Amino acid sequence: MSKKYNFYAGPAILPYEVMKKAQDELLDYNGIGLSIMEISHRSKDFDQVVTTAEAKIRSLLGVPDNYSVLFLQGGASTQFGQIPMNLLKGGKADYVNTGAWAKKAIKEAKLFGTVNVAGSSEDNNFNYVPENLNLSPDAVYVHVTSNETIGGIQYRNFPDTGSVPLIADMSSDIFSRELDVSKFALIYAGAQKNIGQAGVTLVIIRNDLVENSADNLISMLSYKIQVDKKSLYNTPPCFSIYIVKLVLDWIEKQGGAAAVEAVNNEKAKLLYDTIDNNPMFNGTAKTKDRSKMNVTFRLTPEELEGKFVSEATAAGLVGLKGHRSVGGCRASIYNAMPLDGVKELVKFMKKFQAENG
Ligand SMILES: Cc1ncc(COP(=O)(O)O)c(C=O)c1O
Repeated sequence: MSKKYNFYAGPAILPYEVMKKAQDELLDYNGIGLSIMEISHRSKDFDQVVTTAEAKIRSLLGVPDNYSVLFLQGGASTQFGQIPMNLLKGGKADYVNTGAWAKKAIKEAKLFGTVNVAGSSEDNNFNYVPENLNLSPDAVYVHVTSNETIGGIQYRNFPDTGSVPLIADMSSDIFSRELDVSKFALIYAGAQKNIGQAGVTLVIIRNDLVENSADNLISMLSYKIQVDKKSLYNTPPCFSIYIVKLVLDWIEKQGGAAAVEAVNNEKAKLLYDTIDNNPMFNGTAKTKDRSKMNVTFRLTPEELEGKFVSEATAAGLVGLKGHRSVGGCRASIYNAMPLDGVKELVKFMKKFQAENG
C-alpha cells in the first residue's frame, strides 16, 4: 500500500499503532480466544477495558474526583440536546455562536428553555472567537465550542463565567492540549477525531450538575441514570470504547497531553507559516484564533482549489477539501497526524505554487 496522509476532519486519522494493535487483537483479545466485539459488556474483560479507559482519561487530563466520566452514544449531536434536557429545566442558558456546530447546539437548547446568544462571530463568517460576551447573571450555564471544525477557529483562553457552569463541546480538540478540567462543569466530545472511532461520545460532568439534573427523562438520556449505571445502562459501543482505550495508551506513550500539544504546536506553526509566506494561500481565520486542529485556507485564484485538492489526493494527501457548507480547503491535523505528514503537505503546497503561480 502506498503511503497516504489522512487530512479528513472526521472520522479522522488514527495512530498507526492503534490500528495495528486492534488488528492483532481482533480475533483473540488478550489471549481469551474471542474478539472484544463478541463478548458480553458485563464480562470482566470488557469491564477492564472501560475501567482502564476511564482511569486513563482521569490521569491524562487530571480530572478531579468530583467529576464523572461517561461513554455515551448518539454522537456529540445528542449532547446538543441532552445537556439542556437535563440541565436547563425551562431556564436560560448563554451560548457563544462561533459557527455551524455552536448553531446546532443553540437550535437544540431552544427546545428546552431560553437561549441568550452571548456573543457571535457570524458577522464575519465565523472567522474569529468573540470576546466581550454579554453573559446573563441568571444563566444556568454558558456553552462554548472550543474548536469549530468547519470554520477553523479555536479558543486559546476560555471565558471566565464566575460561578456559572461552563460547558464546552471539545469534539475536535479534546486531548490536543493541556487542559484545566476544573474550569469546566461539563466537557463533551465525539470520539472520531482525536480519541478514537465514531460511535462513542466522551462526557466529563461535575457531579453537582448530575445531582441537580432533571428527573423523569428517558433513561438513555438521563445523566443521573448513566452515571449511576457507569455508562452501562444498555449495551455500550464496546468496540469504539476499546479503540478509545488504545488511543489513550498511545497518548500516554507520547508523553501525555503536554507532549502531544508540543507536536501539535509545531505542526500548526509549520502549516500556517507556509500559508502566510506563500501568496497563493490565504488563511481564512483571524490569526489570533486560528485552530491548531483544522487549518482552513483558500487559494488565489479560488478556481485553482479543485486542481489543488485533486493533485494533492493523487500525491497521497487525502481529505483536503473544505466542508461543503463553506468550500475552500481544510487540513485537519489532529493528534495522530505525524509531523512528517504536515511536512509532506507543505512540500506539496510549495510545489503547487511554483507550478501554478
Ligand atoms: C465541534 C463539533 N461538534 C459536534 C460535532 C457533531 O459530532 P457527531 O457527529 O459525533 O454528532 C462535530 C462533528 O464533526 C464537531 O466537529
